[in-house]
Amino acid sequence: MRHPKSSESWDAEFRAGKYEFLKKPSEQARLAPVVSMIAHSIEQAGPCEVVDIGCGEGILYHHLPSSGVVRYVGMDISAVALENLPQGPVEVAAVCANLADWDGEPAPVARRVVVASEVLYYDRAAVADLKRLVDETGTVSEVIVSCVAAHPDKPNWAASSDKLWSELAQTGWPEVERARAADPATGVAWDMARYRVSPNR
Ligand SMILES: C[S@@+](CC[C@H](N)C(=O)[O-])C[C@H]1O[C@@H](n2cnc3c(N)ncnc32)[C@H](O)[C@@H]1O
Repeated sequence: MRHPKSSESWDAEFRAGKYEFLKKPSEQARLAPVVSMIAHSIEQAGPCEVVDIGCGEGILYHHLPSSGVVRYVGMDISAVALENLPQGPVEVAAVCANLADWDGEPAPVARRVVVASEVLYYDRAAVADLKRLVDETGTVSEVIVSCVAAHPDKPNWAASSDKLWSELAQTGWPEVERARAADPATGVAWDMARYRVSPNR
């Protein structure tokens, strides 16, 4: 049985400012390896569209590589979060949807690099949902995942991250890159991986 948080709950939390902490410099540090992975993907396979699943207020947009990203698709379950998506030189498309039933629209304008940063542990079936998106749309070239690592003061985090990495390993997607970021002040660390899900794209 799935008991994920509703869009209304996410909306209420964004309105209440619960995710303002994501804008702190320590949190930005974890985006650096993700951005570096996007840059490596561009170097290896050419320009792309970045699809940021669970994008929140689109913090990733501000850090995108200066060339090679032709569009940023910010997809999130919270319409309130999406109201604050940035605008800038790279085209932005906002999609309000639940990963569980997103059909991948609008159609891609370039090969897709999907980023799932700190989102896949909110729903027990999220990896299966991501795999369905990859398999059914046939539009995804690479997937980049970021997940907070185990922490001694946060007993639930180890089980969630173990489950996530184990399910991602079971997808059979070849892992082409790994990274870790850490905040020395809090001891919080994040693991990232890049998967080449469709060698032909
Ligand atoms: C912790 S925030 C991470 C935001 C951003 N990706 C980052 O790295 O800072 C999790 C985000 O995932 C979104 N989210 C949670 N479950 C979702 C789902 N099933 N489909 C789409 N978005 C979801 C939430 O609304 C929220 O914006």
